[in-house]
Amino acid sequence: MSNKTWKHALIDFLESNRGLVILFFCLPASFVFNLLLNLRTKLHRSFFTSPNQHDKRVRRIQAQVQRWNQQPKEERKPLCTSRPNWLSLSTTFYRKDLCHRVNIDLFDILHLDTDNLTVRVEPMVTVGDITRYLIPKGYTLAVTLEISDATLGGLAMGTGMTTHSHKVGLYQENVSSYEVVLGDGSLVRASVEENEDLYKALPWSHGSLGFLVALTVKIVKVKPYIKMTYLPVKGQKEYCDIIRLFSGDASADYNTPDYLEATIYDHDRAVIMTGDYSDHDPTLPINHASRWYKPWFYKYAEGFLQKGKHTELIPLREYLLRHDRAIFWVVESMIPFGNNHVFRTLFGWLLPPKPAFLKFTTTPGVREFTFTKQVFQDIVLPIRKLEDQIQKSEELFDAYPLLVYPCRVYDRGPRSGQLRAPRKEYLVDGTNYAMYNDLGIYGVPGFVKRKKRYNPVRAMRDMEKFTRDVGGFSFLYADIFMDRGEFEEMFDLSLYELVRQKFGAEGAFPHLYDKVRPEIDVFEIGRQCEGMAGQ
Ligand SMILES: Cc1cc2nc3c(=O)[nH]c(=O)nc-3n(C[C@H](O)[C@H](O)[C@H](O)COP(=O)(O)OP(=O)(O)OC[C@H]3O[C@@H](n4cnc5c(N)ncnc54)[C@H](O)[C@@H]3O)c2cc1C
Ligand SMILES: *[C@@H]1O[C@H](CO)[C@@H](O)[C@H](O)[C@H]1NC(C)=O
Ligand SMILES: *[C@@H]1O[C@H](CO)[C@@H](O)[C@H](O)[C@H]1NC(C)=O
Repeated sequence: MSNKTWKHALIDFLESNRGLVILFFCLPASFVFNLLLNLRTKLHRSFFTSPNQHDKRVRRIQAQVQRWNQQPKEERKPLCTSRPNWLSLSTTFYRKDLCHRVNIDLFDILHLDTDNLTVRVEPMVTVGDITRYLIPKGYTLAVTLEISDATLGGLAMGTGMTTHSHKVGLYQENVSSYEVVLGDGSLVRASVEENEDLYKALPWSHGSLGFLVALTVKIVKVKPYIKMTYLPVKGQKEYCDIIRLFSGDASADYNTPDYLEATIYDHDRAVIMTGDYSDHDPTLPINHASRWYKPWFYKYAEGFLQKGKHTELIPLREYLLRHDRAIFWVVESMIPFGNNHVFRTLFGWLLPPKPAFLKFTTTPGVREFTFTKQVFQDIVLPIRKLEDQIQKSEELFDAYPLLVYPCRVYDRGPRSGQLRAPRKEYLVDGTNYAMYNDLGIYGVPGFVKRKKRYNPVRAMRDMEKFTRDVGGFSFLYADIFMDRGEFEEMFDLSLYELVRQKFGAEGAFPHLYDKVRPEIDVFEIGRQCEGMAGQ
């Protein structure tokens, strides 16, 4: 057999037996791998770091950048962090090997300010770390992500959005200041009071303006439980209207729940989940939603389509990490029997497979393969177009369930960052914000499942066109398929380019577009798909 047929045979085998391969190889390996990673972090924390060493660590990073500056101009490669791609949650693989890598070993929580309700952290602190630290003290971040491996710095430089965002907007709204090492090695603070232009351009900049070395984030007071109500709704117009009503889109005076999300299971059925902070209430059942033997959260919620409306208490941290084990519903396509009762009882504790491990084992061949057979997108779209979003997604990907997280997008005036101000017609009456929503599309498109024709590049470009037309934004952790012109139509780079000049990022850090576009030639893959379909 030639090399090529071997490869195809192997991929075919892996594809048809993926669940077993993952169970017997990937999960145990990922588990051990995770133990080692945790051990490394623990060792690092106990021996090498402590909050009072923060300034010293930052000076080391400045020194690395200063040394880079001493190299002759034509030999300097663009700067990036040395954090390996496989540790980040982004689905793209930026070519860090072509960059000058700077080690950002910043893992500490620096200062909790309970008077001003803020916490100052180093950027590599994870959601898992901060919830473990804050919740027992009665606080949590106003906006986080439900994946314990996500880092607070990564969320700040990328995008953060959660089920509390219909009340407070994106993660960036609740960052009060950033501390950044610039291309010349100097350290600056950016907040509403100082360097406001930099403050506004840092979110959605993906490490293309400087190295983040600390940030101060707002926190909120919490209660120990979330009182969750699952509301099953039939009929598309009906569930879309209720989501909009609950989000506060119809009226700013509406008393919105603290947490709100909807999972759409098919064209006509959705479960809308509302959560409010709560103390213990003996009249309600307690659901330990995140324990290893419990059903996957989206499967559990789906059950209420049959059983009808239900209310229960979930301990706060378990609520915040409810989607962690099944990575929303991504794990299902890898381990189809993963939510089976017996599997969960015996092996449930092995989940989730670490995104880090899955990526660590992703060879370029596998990367191309997964890219053409899976869809992985979060898109910020105006909630008044929810029906159209669902329609478009069904037409292009035919993949359910769909995730809906309502989110405020504020109008901060012209040149306020990469995110364009919402269109006037979307503004909630009497306010300076519009209600958007994250539409999450994850999994294997129906066309692929049924072995029908599917061109991921064409589908994604179609989705992006729709997104631009209605004034939405693609999350940039996922693969994008836009050329530079289309990208600049979606994102406003006018302030960004000025900030790049003013703060010396030009010539030091890669440009945002170059940083986030896929490292593989997606247009070529699209052409190949067309070619195959034509045979
Ligand atoms: C299944 C799935 C679902 C998701 N759903 C959501 C969702 O609902 N809501 C949501 O908000 N997000 C969602 N995300 C995306 C997630 O927010 C991003 O991946 C985010 O960037 C956090 O990941 P990370 O900590 O690994 O960041 P990274 O990928 O490591 O970093 C993000 C960017 O910031 C840059 N960066 C990181 N640290 C620094 C630093 N110290 N200095 C300068 N630049 C830096 C990186 O270079 C990168 O470009 C989802 C991701 C997955 C995989
Ligand atoms: C709270 O913030 C104010 C204004 O920013 C500041 O003057 C004060 O010192 C802060 N309080 C604490 C305890 O740090
Ligand atoms: C978070 O940001 C929003 C929008 O600016 C603001 O209304 C809210 O008060 C902030 N939250 C906290 C805890 O400060």
